[in-house]
Amino acid sequence: MYEAGPDELYAEHLQTLMRRADVALAALRFDALVIHAGCPPTLFLDDQAYPYKVNPHFKAWVPIVDNPQSVLVYTPGARPRVLFHQPSDYWHLPAPMPREPWSESVDCTPMPDPANAGAAWAKLGRVAFIGPPGCFPPGCPPNQALALNDADLLARLHYDRAVKTPYELECLRRASALGARGHQAALAAFRRGESEYEAHMRYLSACAQREEEMPYNNIIAYNEHAAVLHYQHLDRRPPEVLRSLLIDAGAQYRGYAADITRTHAASPGRFAELVQRLDAAQLRLCGEIVSGCDYREVHLSAHRVLGDVLYEAGVTRLVGPDALEQGVTGVFFPHGVGHLLGLQVHDVGGVMGDVQGAERNRPEGHPYLRMTRVLEPGVVVTVEPGIYWIDSLLKSAHQDGRRPHIDWAVVDELRPYGGIRIEDNVVATAAAPENLTRDAFARLAA
Ligand code: GLY
Ligand code: MN
Ligand code: MN
Repeated sequence: MYEAGPDELYAEHLQTLMRRADVALAALRFDALVIHAGCPPTLFLDDQAYPYKVNPHFKAWVPIVDNPQSVLVYTPGARPRVLFHQPSDYWHLPAPMPREPWSESVDCTPMPDPANAGAAWAKLGRVAFIGPPGCFPPGCPPNQALALNDADLLARLHYDRAVKTPYELECLRRASALGARGHQAALAAFRRGESEYEAHMRYLSACAQREEEMPYNNIIAYNEHAAVLHYQHLDRRPPEVLRSLLIDAGAQYRGYAADITRTHAASPGRFAELVQRLDAAQLRLCGEIVSGCDYREVHLSAHRVLGDVLYEAGVTRLVGPDALEQGVTGVFFPHGVGHLLGLQVHDVGGVMGDVQGAERNRPEGHPYLRMTRVLEPGVVVTVEPGIYWIDSLLKSAHQDGRRPHIDWAVVDELRPYGGIRIEDNVVATAAAPENLTRDAFARLAA
């Protein structure tokens, strides 16, 4: 079956963004929108800059992720204009002017000196500015300080952004394909007995992306490290015994993120069986990502399903619903089942109830859930249930009324494996969900 590539889908994507912006600007009585790409801050007492991360609003409009100081100017009814930063600089190589199929849909003009950028919007009336404070040229926004990152405008744009365009879905598919390749390479490194650091380097190499291009820091956790939800170190030496690998690592395509987790056992046994059970449970939860479904229900469903998995594995003595009721599942699954995904790995707007920014409450006792919205076709979420052996949480449960509901001998047997998380990126549609991650791994295996 023929599938359109991002270049063919971009013009329609841009039209959608323009329509959304038109509605938002009109509702808030703005005449124009100016989005700054951002600029990396400088290190304290140094002349070096931190890695540059583009303003997500900017990369939504144009896939320029590596040219700080550029600016997008949009006036309803006109083509978007990109002031493309092109300094006269013999220390660095200025980025070449975009000459790609997508750039035919916008007007790109070279901008040698950002200090003069203000002339591009001086006569546009009431302008809304979006960008990191301090990046706009000096004196800008002139007399319009209140229109910098206007909260009502951001709320509208953030709410709308949860529904992806066909272009965005294709970018996300390609990000998943890259991530799957990285996962395969990191797993091979683990199987060869290489260290967390080496697995990380092989991951990057397989994706052909630099560390700063990753949408978030790779989590490559062996053994007990897998119990740390956002484990941030990379041991340079492998442990004496390799028991488990939890790898949570993504990739980017045109600024869109993949967010993928897999857990692998080094050898057969109770842990390996639990990984299989969790994998099957996770797939069932992915099946719940359908239009009209309240994502909070998916989260609570995950607690019940994981409660059953723990019960069947002999870790707990209560079936799913009872385990949720008694707060037992929260000992092993202390985070949300997932979040919105797109331009940012934890994409914005997950707990918004409408374009005005009203918050949709999280279920009581579940403060870490990042997504409470009702699913619509085109909304992309992660589904990432996990089971962990976290010392501090186990200690609390051992000291309170939950103690009899847990088989502590089994917990002690599994503790050295750290934990398990399986995370896929899933698109809600009017029919069956599209699982970007499983599809990417399947293509790799084909
Ligand atoms: N990689 C961070 C997360 O899964 O939310
Ligand atoms: Mn995630
Ligand atoms: Mn993740």
